Amino acid sequence: MIPRFQPPLGGREIIAALTPSFSDDVRLFEDAFAKVMEQGHAIAFPYGRSGLLALLKCLGLSNRSVICPAYTCVVVPNAVVVSGNRPVFVDSGRDANMDLDHVRGFVDETTGAILATSIFGNPVDLDMLDDLRAKHPHVPVIQDCAHSFITEWNSRPVHREGAAAIFGLNVSKTMTAIFGGMVTTDDAELASALREHRARTTTAPTLLKTMSRLAYAFAVAPAFWPPLFGLTDRLRRAGLLDRFTRYYDEELIELPDDHLVGMTGLEGRVGVEQTGRLSAMIEARRMYDGYYRSRLADVSGLEWLEEPHGSSVSHVVARVADRQRVRARAAAMGVELGEVIEYSVPDLAAYRSLLSDDRSFPVSAVLSTTVINLPTSLRFDERKAAKVVGVLRRVLDGAKPPPALPVT
Ligand SMILES: Cc1ncc(COP(=O)(O)O)c(C=O)c1O
Repeated sequence: MIPRFQPPLGGREIIAALTPSFSDDVRLFEDAFAKVMEQGHAIAFPYGRSGLLALLKCLGLSNRSVICPAYTCVVVPNAVVVSGNRPVFVDSGRDANMDLDHVRGFVDETTGAILATSIFGNPVDLDMLDDLRAKHPHVPVIQDCAHSFITEWNSRPVHREGAAAIFGLNVSKTMTAIFGGMVTTDDAELASALREHRARTTTAPTLLKTMSRLAYAFAVAPAFWPPLFGLTDRLRRAGLLDRFTRYYDEELIELPDDHLVGMTGLEGRVGVEQTGRLSAMIEARRMYDGYYRSRLADVSGLEWLEEPHGSSVSHVVARVADRQRVRARAAAMGVELGEVIEYSVPDLAAYRSLLSDDRSFPVSAVLSTTVINLPTSLRFDERKAAKVVGVLRRVLDGAKPPPALPVT
């Protein structure tokens, strides 16, 4: 079975993980990451959300509103809530990113930060963001780049356009450190505040954490190997992999127990390897995206998201009607289609109880029930891509188009 993504963990990463080192490998990873991102500073955290939590604290934000997309990964608003602030959700535009036109209406004296997210790698509109920043120079912009490693808007890398950027580094991301997160910034004062905060709040990684990361890395690569992936998928559907794959509980707003246990040196070594391969991995995703878009352009049951030039394509995303049927039929023909992101955060139970108003987020709601992710891998493989195209053509033959995205 062809999985929807291939974790970026190969022989080089496993060798790096296994090679003992007497250096500060996390620091070496930070330096390599700062260099590839062309930023003054990079500070590593146990998760991307731990980095966001630290950032909100270091920006001095408490009991403030943080404007963030309704259509994002739920761990992001979870970190906002845990930091003692409140998320103010804004619906998406046609590219699935938060509609910056709408953001204007939500900035007021309570606003502590704006979280701009380039979802699926699609760059936020930096011209509109420039406008917003000019009008509200005291409101820091945080770029959530967990999906957008080196994404550009008109040749401007989005991660450099704000107070800081956060990155997630789990195995489903464009590059990985097994787990982990990174914050980048050009602000030396903010960087040293983040380092001090991390030293105060984060405990040193234990040997047990190192061993469990190693075991996880060893298990993950074969689990996504196409000849074995059918079995992995069956185990996942039976709920036997929940411990590894379920990353949120829709009833709870929480962060994982180990969100303040520092990144291991082993993860740092894997991260250094990955940093060197980042541009090649982005290129492979762009090739899949271009291939699928051109070969499936005439399929009426498939609608492509608007994707501005400069996307680094964390996910190849299209929309379909009757997603569960499409996914089930594709799986029966040997192709896994993802459904990231399959919820609109304000509609999750925990947020329905938290939010006092009953605003709706119609674009986010439609996206959450209609998006599919087409498979990618670390290197572009035309045979694999052609098989996916063939399966999708059969599955979507005569299918009706997905519901249109509402105009808001
Ligand atoms: C858009 C987005 N932002 C932030 C994060 C947070 O990353 P982490 O899981 O490392 O906390 C994720 C994680 O999947 C994400 O998808």
